[in-house]
Amino acid sequence: MRTIDIPLGDRSYPVRIGEGLLADPAAWAPHVGQAPILIVTNETVAPLYLPAVLGALKGHDVDTFTMADGEAEKNWDNWRALIGRLADRHAPRDTTLVALGGGVVGDLCGFAAATWMRGIRFIQAPTTLLAQVDASVGGKTAINIPQGKNLVGAFHQPAAVIADTATLRTLPPREYRAGLAEVLKYGAICDAGFIDWIEANIDALRAMEPDALAEIVERSVRYKAEVVGADEREQGVRAILNFGHTFGHALETHTGYQRYLHGEAVAIGMVVAATLSESRGLLAPGLARRLADIQSALGLPVTVPADIDAPDLLQHMKLDKKNLAGRRRLVLLSAPGKAIVDEDSADADILAALNACRAEDPAA
Ligand SMILES: NC(=O)c1ccc[n+]([C@@H]2O[C@H](COP(=O)([O-])OP(=O)(O)OC[C@H]3O[C@@H](n4cnc5c(N)ncnc54)[C@H](O)[C@@H]3O)[C@@H](O)[C@H]2O)c1
Repeated sequence: MRTIDIPLGDRSYPVRIGEGLLADPAAWAPHVGQAPILIVTNETVAPLYLPAVLGALKGHDVDTFTMADGEAEKNWDNWRALIGRLADRHAPRDTTLVALGGGVVGDLCGFAAATWMRGIRFIQAPTTLLAQVDASVGGKTAINIPQGKNLVGAFHQPAAVIADTATLRTLPPREYRAGLAEVLKYGAICDAGFIDWIEANIDALRAMEPDALAEIVERSVRYKAEVVGADEREQGVRAILNFGHTFGHALETHTGYQRYLHGEAVAIGMVVAATLSESRGLLAPGLARRLADIQSALGLPVTVPADIDAPDLLQHMKLDKKNLAGRRRLVLLSAPGKAIVDEDSADADILAALNACRAEDPAA
């Protein structure tokens, strides 16, 4: 078992990473006392992993709340139902919630933990790659409302993260690949050496070799811990985690969240952001091509599709909630492994970068 500490003063917590941790009582024991536990999961993950967790927590007072699957479930109704369950059971303040599932379960469970009695303990047990390398660490919790995604939420750090890398093997392959985009993002913004490592281990990553999985989760969590440790509430440097996301969100919004998984849109967005960094003269030429080659080898998309117009994407970017005081903020690169926040890219620069990243093959 690998352990990484997230250094946030009295809100610090460990992230435990390894194969088979969900079924291991020793992985849970330091984080659960004798108080009641409520496991929050969904109907896809429950049959796969709930029995193992219940086995590891044998002897504890455990209840389960199972949601339907899907991003649309990260909503008021499920938050209300979960809070209702806590209220009906007179759940005491020392109750521990456990989020067993991907980022959707983690965000909703975390938000319920943040809001019940002004905040109770919760443990993240992420079962997707995206949740293990990103969503479970950092304390952002949220639900979606009809007006937009993640508009209602709170910062609330978990008491521990238990990331069982064996769970990644049952993921739909597309979900796994989408998570790899976020992994590569850490290389692009934090550590050029990690880009080299990913490039050298593409076959191991495609084969989901246990050591390769543990390595990418550990390194990604370390990078995220560094950034979050320096800026817990996203007042500054934490913004660099949005590399590729402004373009990615524009693609997701434009296609009604139907065509791309988040990580796939981010993958395209990273190539566009690196291309813009190069054309603005901020970054030496070559990295955009290299990121695109790595992503292609990992089975991720890399081009802006021929049927989407660049001005439409630009329009979506103007509404991005990360813009401040009307200024458009983009995360660009000044070197491999080094991100900068930019407010000076003109519309024409952005349009040119989007068009430079068009699929050469119109069918792509
Ligand atoms: N809080 C944060 O910092 C943060 C960061 C990034 C993303 N997010 C949020 O995370 C969500 C996306 O998370 P996600 O990509 O994990 O999606 P998800 O939670 O929808 O999971 C993807 C799919 O995989 C299934 N699944 C989960 N684990 C599985 C397993 N081991 N085997 C088989 N199937 C499994 C799920 O049921 C779902 O169908 C979004 O709502 C996003 O806003 C939050």
